[in-house]
Amino acid sequence: MISVLLARARDYEAERLPKISPAVLPRFHVTGGVGWLNDPNGFSLYRGEYHLFFQYYPYATHWSDMHWGHVKTRDFIHWEHLPCAMAPDMQYDCRGCFSGSAVELPDGRHLLMYTGVGNTSDGGEVQTQCIAFGDGVDYEKYEGNPVIDSKLLPEGGSSVHFRDPKICKTDDGWRAVAGNLCSDGNGAVLMFKSPDALNWQYAGKVASSDNRFGRMWECPDLFRLDGKDVLILSPQEVRGDNLDFLNGNTTLCLIGSLAPDNSLNREAEQTVDYGLDFYAPQTLLTADGRRVIIAWMQYWNSVDVRPVKELPFFGQMTLPRELRVENGRLIQNPVRELEACRGERVAHSKVMIAEKTELPGVNGRCLDLTVSVRPGGSGEFRRFNLNVAEGCGYLTSICFHPNENTVLVDRSKSGWPQEVMNRKMFAVDDKNGEITLRIILDRYSMEIFVNGGEQAATFVLFAPEEADGISFEAEGTAEADIECFTLLI
Ligand code: FRU
Repeated sequence: MISVLLARARDYEAERLPKISPAVLPRFHVTGGVGWLNDPNGFSLYRGEYHLFFQYYPYATHWSDMHWGHVKTRDFIHWEHLPCAMAPDMQYDCRGCFSGSAVELPDGRHLLMYTGVGNTSDGGEVQTQCIAFGDGVDYEKYEGNPVIDSKLLPEGGSSVHFRDPKICKTDDGWRAVAGNLCSDGNGAVLMFKSPDALNWQYAGKVASSDNRFGRMWECPDLFRLDGKDVLILSPQEVRGDNLDFLNGNTTLCLIGSLAPDNSLNREAEQTVDYGLDFYAPQTLLTADGRRVIIAWMQYWNSVDVRPVKELPFFGQMTLPRELRVENGRLIQNPVRELEACRGERVAHSKVMIAEKTELPGVNGRCLDLTVSVRPGGSGEFRRFNLNVAEGCGYLTSICFHPNENTVLVDRSKSGWPQEVMNRKMFAVDDKNGEITLRIILDRYSMEIFVNGGEQAATFVLFAPEEADGISFEAEGTAEADIECFTLLI
């Protein structure tokens, strides 16, 4: 039996989704199709397919009562929409089914673990962790919900800011990490353990912000990768610095090893993405053992500026990325499945760039483009610009300064109708004036992977598709190798 609220969402989708022209949707980035989308949820392998749920309000392009939307894929590129999976239809989640995760149970059921936002008797709000079971399409909320509530919180833990459980299998049962705001104003990631995914107990504090990385810590994910324990989370109210963490909502990766009390001995800290539109990432392990991450391709602070008002949806996911840890750093690259979508290869090697240059066959808005640049000629090489989504008065530039070892991305002419955060500079590793930039372009986005995935930087773009030019310029002379594939999706 599905609730009235869920039936309403599914009827609405069934009526609206078929009428939406694919020409207004991103080609290979997930959207709700209709309505509002934020965090990825329940990213999991289930019965041989990858399922992705998301924070979703089907009826309007703004955040409101959170449902869980649902899509699935076999290759992370082509996604199939499934009916809305959950609506806020219980007393304990009447203010929203907030973010969470999913696992396949040994008995073949799909388990969703999420935050229910409910009312307290005095009109306040309370967040508890809840469960639903399903078959990959239909989900039923567990009659014993909530499975984790404030009674399990350590001293000083908040029952109002207690959310986003990420569940995973362990040798002796299940483990979940969740975000919390402690009474001393610090964000924390708390761990819980269970033998059966239903009965939980508190198992320790994995990490906390210690007044350095913001306040509430949202959407934690803890996994083992390349011999390290990796904790990824999304802190709020960070005082960023220009070259690394953003002010406000940002993403943080802590790399180290878990101690017996489940606290993380930190060896390295970094931002996950150096762009302007990346939040609340979540990972899964693929059937062939790859750790793959996906994030909401948006920044909370710019959601109220609607670049294209008539679009039926708001919010997209990033392209899923494969993760590695190398020399204490998180390395990210597009899932290898993207390569199967490459069309004809256009390559130009050892091109000398000084004045503005366009190259035959190098243009488009659905592209996988790699540019390697190094000092060329005799003059001093001081700057290299790669311009994309250019034309009709639009242009987005990626500017490398070899002397300062920085990249500055400027999307102020990318179609945002008002000034939002449009420029982002980040430091890159000194490689004697060399850099490799891989750029993935879709209808409304640009994802940059620097030096084989040492850094990633994600930006939403809203230039119309006719702005499909690509050009190169340098101060001094640069030598560039360019490889460009149109993506056939
Ligand atoms: C992160 C977040 C989560 C919460 C969800 C609500 O973007 O604030 O902490 O569960 O969004 O939609």
